[in-house]
Amino acid sequence: MGPGQAQVNGVACTHPMIVTVASFKGGVGKTTTAIHLAAFLQGYAETLLIDADPNQSALAWASRGELPFIVVDQWQAGAFATPHSHVVIDTPARPVAEDLALLATSCDLLILPTTPDILALDALALMVQHLAGLPIAPYRILLTMIPPYPSRAGAEVRDMLLTTGLPLFESGIRRYAAFQKAALAGTAVYDVKDAKAELGWQDYVAVGKEVLALALDVEGQSSEEEIGS
Ligand SMILES: Nc1ncnc2c1ncn2[C@@H]1O[C@H](COP(=O)(O)OP(=O)(O)OP(=O)(O)O)[C@@H](O)[C@H]1O
Ligand SMILES: [Mg+2]
Repeated sequence: MGPGQAQVNGVACTHPMIVTVASFKGGVGKTTTAIHLAAFLQGYAETLLIDADPNQSALAWASRGELPFIVVDQWQAGAFATPHSHVVIDTPARPVAEDLALLATSCDLLILPTTPDILALDALALMVQHLAGLPIAPYRILLTMIPPYPSRAGAEVRDMLLTTGLPLFESGIRRYAAFQKAALAGTAVYDVKDAKAELGWQDYVAVGKEVLALALDVEGQSSEEEIGS
């Protein structure tokens, strides 16, 4: 296998992906997800993180330490993206309707992180309602900051979302202080000295594998279309 190639469940994967992370509510883990997904994808191919949030949280995270991929703002993006790189886009909370339409249609996958609490779920419902009127890329809801056992909040919200039929990542991200330490240190969570750092990283690895599996689906569909045309 050549550089930048790797396997997901035994399948070679190099398909370049544009993944956008968005939500209507602030503080649900968008930036943390964008950073760790970019770190995961960088293990497979050159990856660029575009910080499209005027708060520039991802750029600030990168400036504090060291990350294995480049972070740029939306104005610099054109100069860095190559046809072969994965691109992850971090966005501001509560995007205006036109921005949301653009974000949702100009990516291969939209990730909607949500925490398992009622305010975040209300915002998620609003987001899904907005998306319903748009010709959008596939999207997946990601449960983040799932509180540890014995809390049942994560499992209860997952069950509830599954009954709605909304698309949900099988994996979720647990709530670990290691993620806050990573943000402070400007690194990915696997570089943090914390007993739960590796568990936190493995949560994002599981999500990353689902993302790559979706990319392979998209690739499969487009080659089927090419054959059919
Ligand atoms: N899995 C997690 N476990 C514990 N803390 C987390 C986790 N994910 C994110 N956090 C913390 O929660 C806070 C919000 O996370 P983050 O900045 O990623 O959210 P956001 O959706 O990008 O916020 P904003 O809408 O302000 O851009 C941060 O302090 C972050 O360190
Ligand atoms: Mg953010």
